[in-house]
Amino acid sequence: MKSVLENRPALRAEIEKVAEVAGYLWQKGWAERNGGNITVNVTEHADEAIRALPAISERYPIGTELPRLKGCYFFCKGTNRRMRDLARRPMENGAVIRILDDGASYEIIADAPVKPTSELASHLAMHEQMIATGNGYKAALHTHPIDLVAMTHNPAFLAKDVLTKLLWSMIPETRAFCPKGLGIVPYEMPSSVKLARATVEALKDYDVVMWEKHGVCAVGPDIIEAFDQVDVLSKAAQIYQTARAMGFVPTGTTQEQMDELQRAFNL
Ligand code: 13P
Ligand code: ZN
Repeated sequence: MKSVLENRPALRAEIEKVAEVAGYLWQKGWAERNGGNITVNVTEHADEAIRALPAISERYPIGTELPRLKGCYFFCKGTNRRMRDLARRPMENGAVIRILDDGASYEIIADAPVKPTSELASHLAMHEQMIATGNGYKAALHTHPIDLVAMTHNPAFLAKDVLTKLLWSMIPETRAFCPKGLGIVPYEMPSSVKLARATVEALKDYDVVMWEKHGVCAVGPDIIEAFDQVDVLSKAAQIYQTARAMGFVPTGTTQEQMDELQRAFNL
C-alpha cells in the first residue's frame, strides 16, 4: 500500500521529527509501555490528493467541539502504541486523521486504521488554542518524565508557582527557555474532557503544564521544540533532586539573578 508520505518530503520531514522525539522519550525513560502521546497539525501538507482520500474508519466523536479544527489534519500516535515502536515505524503506530465539519468528530484517512491516542481531546484542545492565539505552533506532546512527576507527589510543590520558581532557580537556562514556567493541573481522570479543558486553561498562562501525578503537556512550533521545553524543566528537576540526594538543599540562584536574566533576555 502507498504511504501518504510518498512524494511529500515536507510531510515526511515532520513525521521523521516525530519518530526522532519518540526515540528520545523512550531513551529518557519517560515512555513506559504506551506512555505518552504526540500529535502534529499537518493541515498545511494536506494537498488536494490528501483531501480527496476516503475515510478508512468510521466517524468517531472527539468528546468536545473544537470549531477552529474543522477540516484540519493531524498525525496522531495510536492509542496503546509504544513510543519505542513509533520511533522506528511511525506510520504503523500512528495515523493521519481528518476533523469533520461538525468540529466534534474525526475519521482516520492514512496510512492504516490506527485509532488515535486516548488523550486526543487534550491534544486537539491544545491545537485549537494554538490556532486561536495565532502563534503558528503545530505540535503537542504529552509525556511522563520521572523527575517532574515525582515532584507532584509533594503537596508543597503544587501551590501556585512554587515549582516554577524552584526549577527556574536551579539553572539559568530554565528561566531563559521556559519564561512562563510550569502550570499545575490538579489530578483529573486521564483522557477526560475535564482534563483537556483544565490543560488549555493552564496553557494560557504557562509554557508547559503538569498533570498532577501523571505527566506533562508541552506545545511548540514543531515536536522537537515541544520536547526541548520538557527537557529543560526535567534537567532543572534533576539538579534539584541530585543535590537532595547528596544530602543538602540546593541554594538556587537568587531572585536578583533571575531578574537580571529576565531583563537581559527580555523575558
Ligand atoms: P495512549 O496510548 O492512548 O496514547 O495513552 C498513553 C497515555 O499516556 C495516557 O495518558
Ligand atoms: Zn499519560
